[in-house]
Parts: sequence; structure tokens; C-alpha cells
Amino acid sequence: MSMLVLSGVPESIIDGLKSAGVRVVMPYTKIFPDGEQYIRIEEEVDSCIVLQSMYPEQDRRFIELYLALEALRGLNAKCIGVIVLYLAYARQDKRFLRGEPISIYALMQPLKLLGIDRVGVIDVHSESSLRNLGLEVLNVLPHKYMIEKSGIKVEFVLAPDKGALARAKAAAEGLGIPYDNLEKFRDRITGEITMKEKRLDVAGKTVAIVDDIVSTGGTLAKAIENLYKLGASKVYAVVSHALLVGNAIEKLERSGIEELITLNTVRHRELPKWVRVVDCTELVLDIAKELGYRSV
Ligand code: R5P
Repeated sequence: MSMLVLSGVPESIIDGLKSAGVRVVMPYTKIFPDGEQYIRIEEEVDSCIVLQSMYPEQDRRFIELYLALEALRGLNAKCIGVIVLYLAYARQDKRFLRGEPISIYALMQPLKLLGIDRVGVIDVHSESSLRNLGLEVLNVLPHKYMIEKSGIKVEFVLAPDKGALARAKAAAEGLGIPYDNLEKFRDRITGEITMKEKRLDVAGKTVAIVDDIVSTGGTLAKAIENLYKLGASKVYAVVSHALLVGNAIEKLERSGIEELITLNTVRHRELPKWVRVVDCTELVLDIAKELGYRSV
């Protein structure tokens, strides 16, 4: 069995898979002069798992995935599942405003048409939106793993909003420490974030904020500000997917963050010293095995 690895997957993951004895197949790809993508699977593939990640260049990564699945059909190869390390477009999982699409439906529905029923993901924004499409979903919540692998000692886990509460609960219960959540409001037009004041028992404690994505850094910066006001002694952020767009790095640096712990689920640009990247190859292999991956 092989793993068909597409262009969004970071090198460090590809190296890790190879070291673990996985037969990694990477298709030939090129861009036509008009900007369209071309892909060709040149090696023999009988059955496989397809692996992709979707940042940066989210739109291209989706198209590449669709093309790869259609190429596999042409080869009569069996694809037993798709693993997406970071699934883009997952935050638009509702029609927040009239006239909007549920983007994740639009982008993931083609997988069903291409014969895929099972999807593995690392900390997808909304698991239920994939289930609503009739996909079987294996979703890993990695925060406890990230805290343990990084060796940080935390005494309290905080979700920056209600949506991240399940993440905080899973990590905190696994570590045997308390957790809570803040309440965040994002203006759907301007993107401005506000957080309701809340009393939390964090004075003198080391706190880990857990979330799925850090994009502009606005959510983390507000939560960190709240925690320091409440007397927290150190604040870490433990976030699965670090997109860090625009001036996010500068914003977080100013917030007094102790460290940002993240995974190599996306291709990162150069990162400052206070960002620590935990390798998630082990989690990918676990998901692959759950999906039925066998190394022969
Ligand atoms: C939103 O609900 C997500 O879980 C993250 O909290 C959000 O995407 C973070 O975005 P930003 O870093 O731009 O505040």
C-alpha cells in the first residue's frame, strides 16, 4: 500500500513518513501557461491513502486533491481514504449572513463524487460539517500531545471561545487540570474581535490557550490580554495550525506570549524563536492505520 503525498504536505512530514517505512508516492505536477494545474501519477499504485494539506494556496491544494483522486480512478487504484493535515475553508461551516455559502460543503462535496467516504483530519474546525456530508471522519485533537511533547508545564487550560471548549476539555481532562472558556464575538463585516470579561481562577498560574487555528493572531492576543489582566503568570498558546498571516507575529510578540506551540501541519515561513513546532508524523501514521493503512 502507498501514500500518495500531494504538494501541500510539509517536507518534514514526508521525511518522517519515509523514515517510518511508508512507500511515499509523489505525483508529477506542473502549471500550464494559463495557470491551470496538471498532475500525473507515474508510479504503480494499487491501493493508497492520499495525503494533503491546504495552506498556503488553499484553492490550488483543493484542485490538486480532486485531480489526484480522479487520476487514481483512471488507474483503477483503490483510495481507502484521504488525510488532510489542515483543512482550509472549514471555518465557513454555516451561513452566518444571508446569501453566504457553506464553503466547507462546496469544497468537500466533490470528494464523495470522487468515491471517497472516509476522511482523516487533524483538529478540523468543525467535524460535524463533514459528517453532514455523509463522510466518515477521523479527527484527532492534538493539544494534550502537543503540551506533552513540548514539555511545558501548565496548570490551567483556556478555550478563547465556546467553539474551542471541546478542545480545552479534552486536553485538560487528559492532563488532570482545570479548564474554562472565554466568550469571543467577531464582527462578521469588519472582523473586529471583542471578548466578554470573565472571572477565571488563573492568578499566579501558567495557562495554555488551546485553539485550532491562529490566523491574524487577533483571537490569541485578546485572550492573552484578558489572562494577564486576571493575574496569570505565564501564557502559552497551543494551536494546531499556525497560518500567522499579515502582522500576526508582531501582534503576538507584543501580547507577551510565552511561547506558541504548533504542529507542522502547514508549510511555515520563517518563524521566531518563541514559536515551537511539534512534529505530527506520529499522529498522521495513527490516522492512516485507523483508515486501514498497511505497510505492505
Ligand atoms: C475561529 O473560530 C477559530 O477557531 C480561531 O479562533 C480563529 O480562526 C483564529 O483567527 P485569528 O487568529 O484571525 O483571530
